[in-house]
Amino acid sequence: MNFREDLRFKIDASTGGLALTGPHDKTILLHPIWLRERVIDPNSYDAHSRQRLYEPTDIDNDIRILSAQINISDRLDVVFNDGLESFVSVSNILSEIGWQKNNEVMPEPMKWTANFEDWPRANWSDITDSKTLFALLQEYYKHGFLLLENTPTQKNSLYEIAKLFGHIRGTNFGLLFDVETKINPTDLADTNLALPAHTDNPYRNPIPSIQFLHCLHNDVKGGLATLVDGLAILDELRHISPSYVDILSTTQIRFRYESDETVLQSYGTLIELDFDGNLRCIRLSSRVDYVPVLNVDTLSKFYEARKQMHALANDPHFQIKFCYEPGLLLMMDNTRLLHGRTAYDNEQGQRLLQGCYIDHDGPDSLFRKLARDCRLSQTDQEKI
Ligand SMILES: [Fe+2]
Repeated sequence: MNFREDLRFKIDASTGGLALTGPHDKTILLHPIWLRERVIDPNSYDAHSRQRLYEPTDIDNDIRILSAQINISDRLDVVFNDGLESFVSVSNILSEIGWQKNNEVMPEPMKWTANFEDWPRANWSDITDSKTLFALLQEYYKHGFLLLENTPTQKNSLYEIAKLFGHIRGTNFGLLFDVETKINPTDLADTNLALPAHTDNPYRNPIPSIQFLHCLHNDVKGGLATLVDGLAILDELRHISPSYVDILSTTQIRFRYESDETVLQSYGTLIELDFDGNLRCIRLSSRVDYVPVLNVDTLSKFYEARKQMHALANDPHFQIKFCYEPGLLLMMDNTRLLHGRTAYDNEQGQRLLQGCYIDHDGPDSLFRKLARDCRLSQTDQEKI
């Protein structure tokens, strides 16, 4: 049965709102102002800017709905007691209350460990196809990273690649930064040393959300990239001892980076959780973290927990590894994943990556736009 034929509604006499009853006899009472804020007639809503043309706080608190009925598919005509006759989109309302699948909702994260093989990857030339790009982004949200293969390898081509996903956030390292062995490096990344699993730049406020690493040249021995899922580490830490998670998610750490020109400092917990205990941000950068001078017992517990977290983050059981071939690009969520690399020998060769950062809202916007385009093209198909 068509979902909308299964939809019933009536005015609620006591509140003046609209009682919607859907499949399985679920009922929700919509506040009259809530519904009023969603009217989309041309006098109330600018279709171009997609913003309201009136001030919703001017609506009377005792506004009521006088009548409501569906005359045209997806359009619920509503009359209010202040004289407004307008309409709302039924599908928008149903999506918003969770009664209809909303394709703008990102897939739930799926934790992974070393045996994860189905890495999110695509050929650079293939993501000009919006369906391929949309599917790739879905995998990115599940796994926290994606790989693009056969991207251009000219210097600074990362500008164009990253721009597809969001606005580059410059730092004191520049808009793009080179990762290669340097004389007098200002960061250990610019050596040929192994880098243990870490997250980037916890000393910044805000922390860079997403990192790109783009290989332009690589003919050295070693230097494999390593990636670890913070969700898997968190799960395992909880399994070993919930007290480890407690102390790592409550102890505020000072992170600090200094160069001749820059002194960056910020604070946060190694594991930041949301209200439901889900991972919000992981910070692991043990070369630049400074725990406050707590009492000895607390510090002993903290150091034990941090040691365990570090061990898990560098345990091959949790780690995937790959070689940066020229043209390979990694995009990863720096608030969820940890990354590192094995040492490399650059006596006979060169390894040159370029990197940059973007914010979460870049890919989020792209994902929702692709979702909206997909919905609109389906609607057009239905009209044909
Ligand atoms: Fe890094």
